[in-house]
Amino acid sequence: MSTTDHRRLVARSLDVITGNQDAGGGYPASPAYPVYGFSWFRDGSFIAEAASRAGAPGSATAFHDWCARMVTDRADRVLRVVAAHRGGGRPADRDYLPTRFTLDGRDPDVAGWGEFQTDGYGTWLWSLTAHLERHGLDPAPYRDAVALVVDYLAVTWDLPCNDWWEESGDERHVSTLGAIQGGLAAAARAGLADPEAVGPVLADAGNLVAEEGTLRGRLTKWLGNDAVDASLVACLTPFAVTDPYGRVAARTLAAVERDLLEPGGGVHRYLDDVFYGGGQWPVLAGLLGWHHARTGRTAAARRQLDWIAAQATPDGLLPEQAVDARLLHPEQLAPWEERWGPVATPLLWSHAMYVILADALGIHPTGPTHHP
Ligand code: BGC
Repeated sequence: MSTTDHRRLVARSLDVITGNQDAGGGYPASPAYPVYGFSWFRDGSFIAEAASRAGAPGSATAFHDWCARMVTDRADRVLRVVAAHRGGGRPADRDYLPTRFTLDGRDPDVAGWGEFQTDGYGTWLWSLTAHLERHGLDPAPYRDAVALVVDYLAVTWDLPCNDWWEESGDERHVSTLGAIQGGLAAAARAGLADPEAVGPVLADAGNLVAEEGTLRGRLTKWLGNDAVDASLVACLTPFAVTDPYGRVAARTLAAVERDLLEPGGGVHRYLDDVFYGGGQWPVLAGLLGWHHARTGRTAAARRQLDWIAAQATPDGLLPEQAVDARLLHPEQLAPWEERWGPVATPLLWSHAMYVILADALGIHPTGPTHHP
C-alpha cells in the first residue's frame, strides 16, 4: 500500500477515535459490538497515545482527565485496598478497581467476567506520562489520581489477575507485570511517583520475572508456564522493561514470530486462543511493528503496517481480529459469531495501534487536522 493511502487511513483512524469518544472523555472499545460499549483503561491508554502522537492531543487530555476522575471518585476504595494489604489482610472483592467503566463513570454491572486486572492501570501511567512530556503539559491536575494508582499497584502488582485478554485469572502474567513496571518507572522518571516507593516494586517484579517468568532465555505467558503470548512484545516496546537489543528480547521475539506470526503479516494472540477461532489481531501486528520500527527494522515494521491496512473495510474501519485468513481453531468461529455477532468493527484500539505504528514510521495523517 502506498504511503499516501496510509496517510488517508491514519486520518480516517483519527476520525474513528475522536468521533466515537464520549463527551466525558471515555473511549468505547467498539461502538458497534454488544459488550464493548465500556471504556477500558487498557484499550483507552493506547488509544490516547495514538491521539496524543498524531494530532489530537485534546482528545488524549480528555481521556486522561476521565481516567483521573474514575480513580479519584473511588479514592475511598483504593485507600481501603491499600490499608488492607499493608495490614497483611485482604479487602472486600468489590473494593478492587474494575478494568473498565461505563462511559458515564460507573462500575460495570456484568457478573462473571473477571474485572480485577491490573495491567490497565500501569498502562495508564505510561500513557499519561508520555502525553504530558510530549506536549509539555502541567502534571498537577493528575497528581492525586497518580498517587492513588501508584499506591494501589504497589500492593496489587503480584496478585493473580486476568491478563490482557481477560483470561486465566488464577495466574500472574508477564505482560501484566510489564505494564505495571513500565507505568511505575515512567511515573517515577516524570517526578509523578516517589522513586523510593516505586524502586522496591520494580526490583521485586524484575526479579520475579527473571526467576519465574523466563524460560530458556525468553519471557513466558505467565509465571511458571512455557507458552508464548504476543502481548509479551509490550515488555520490550513500549514498556521498555526488557532491553530491546538484549538476548531475552531476541529470544522472546523469535518465539512470537515462530508460533504466532503469519508469513504475510498478522499476529495471533497465543496458540490455544479459540475466541472467534483465533484469528490475527491488528493490535498485535501494530505492537510488533512498533517494536521493529523502534529498533530500526523498518521493512519488517512496514510489513505489519501494510497488513493492518489490508484488513480495513471499504469504508476504512479496522476489526478486532481478521477471521477470513488462517485461524488457529477454525471450528470455533461459528459459535462465537452465533453468540455475539460478527467480530467487533471498528475496534478503536486497532485503529490506535495502526496510527502509532504509522507515526513510528514517520507517516502522518493527510489534510489539515480538525481535531481538538
Ligand atoms: C480483549 C481485551 C480488550 C477488550 C475490549 C477483549 O476481548 O481480550 O484485550 O481490552 O476486549 O476491547
